[in-house]
Amino acid sequence: MDEHKGTVLIADDEESLRSLLVKVLSKMGYATFTAGNGEEVLNEVGQRELDLLIMDIRMPKLDGMEAFKVLRREYPELPIIMMTAFGSMETTLEVMRLGAFDYLTKPFDVPVVKAVVEKAMSSRRGAAGGEPALAQPWVNAFVGSSPLMQDVFKTIGRVSASDSSVLIQGESGTGKELIARTIHQYSNRKNMPFVSVNCGAVPENLLESEFFGYEKGAFTGANQRKIGKFEYADGGTIFLDEVGEMSPQLQVKLLRVLQEREFQRVGGNENIPVDVRIIAATNKDLRQSIAAKTFRADLFYRLNVVSIQVPRLEQRKEDIQLLASYFRDKYCSKLGKEPKRISPEAMEIIEGYDWPGNVRELENAIEHAVVMGSGRVILPEDLPEDILMYQGKDMPDAGERQETLRDRVKAVEKEAIAQALKKTGGNKLQAAKLLDISRRALQYKIEEYGLEN
Ligand SMILES: Nc1ncnc2c1ncn2[C@@H]1O[C@H](COP(=O)(O)OP(=O)(O)OP(=O)(O)O)[C@@H](O)[C@H]1O
Ligand SMILES: [Mg+2]
Repeated sequence: MDEHKGTVLIADDEESLRSLLVKVLSKMGYATFTAGNGEEVLNEVGQRELDLLIMDIRMPKLDGMEAFKVLRREYPELPIIMMTAFGSMETTLEVMRLGAFDYLTKPFDVPVVKAVVEKAMSSRRGAAGGEPALAQPWVNAFVGSSPLMQDVFKTIGRVSASDSSVLIQGESGTGKELIARTIHQYSNRKNMPFVSVNCGAVPENLLESEFFGYEKGAFTGANQRKIGKFEYADGGTIFLDEVGEMSPQLQVKLLRVLQEREFQRVGGNENIPVDVRIIAATNKDLRQSIAAKTFRADLFYRLNVVSIQVPRLEQRKEDIQLLASYFRDKYCSKLGKEPKRISPEAMEIIEGYDWPGNVRELENAIEHAVVMGSGRVILPEDLPEDILMYQGKDMPDAGERQETLRDRVKAVEKEAIAQALKKTGGNKLQAAKLLDISRRALQYKIEEYGLEN
């Protein structure tokens, strides 16, 4: 058998593209096989040990998208790079969300193909050698199945391919920055910088030089020329966070950059051309700021070419469970904890809470629970105090009964244990297994609840 670095299946209905990829990958030292449609892909994957699949989305018989979904389910370990034609960003985003390793936009450059393949192969080697690849591939995913978030995803998909300015509005912690990063990541600028400036955090007098840099001697202490964020972001994306906090004076300067696509460093008079995509975010209602004359209308319209309104978490309750599980996996993996379940009681509390701090608050609560919880299951008492307190308040007749959360949890627990014992005919070992607790813990609880007879 000849030596090769790994085995790759290449699937595309276009013969010329297949042979191009075969040539490139063979030169790189990989063994290659090809398929012309989704059915052939499934056949090949069933028959061979593969290290990587590169697959077109649009193919006859079974298309790449369908084949992809089957493969994700049946061969979750196999890295898949999807190929898409330019302009189908929505589909691209969809496959990335479903766990594709990466994607290539056609027509592609050979060096890009090589880089993506090497990345996939080295991550595969990493996964095979070390620990089981826990939730790793999902870290930093973008989660959401609610219709409201699906709309947001679609908009992201559509705007990624363009250079239009985007204004993202939403409450704190709803995911504005994540959306900005995602747009960048799916744009043609993805290999160029993403530069973030928090307009609210930088003192007003420093913001201009933060944006545009300065020349040596521009002011006392300017001992040498400094490059600003716009210059850093050249070719990439600049994210103007909390754009509503910007001073009127700086708003004028920003407007000028948007119009002229050039700027001057502070203390300089050279016009420096710049090619940046601008994404702005705010948790203010900018139309109100316009009415109050604290935000320029002309700047607003320049920024708001595409508008994304991010819903509060409370408006998309369908996403809560998904996000909670996602963050649980993220923090179990990050903190090196064994995988955990979230108990139904804990989930009920999580879903019933109103999450004023939105996704960020949920993320923090789950991290807290993962850290605090000792067992394999996240229990209500592992959740942060304020969320548990809210529960108590929310109970319609809490005032009358004065029943604490603990009481409720205990009642549920007692009932579950009694049922498990009944189901197993009193066999404690089996009942413990059923409940996913240790035999000792079960014995302890049986005594506590007086279930022994
Ligand atoms: N749909 C989502 N899927 C996965 N993670 C999310 C999602 N939305 C938000 N997050 C995570 O929640 C946290 C808060 O999101 P982000 O920082 O983007 O919010 P923000 O709207 O910019 O908040 P702020 O206005 O306070 O700056 C981040 O860790 C982010 O990764
Ligand atoms: Mg933010």
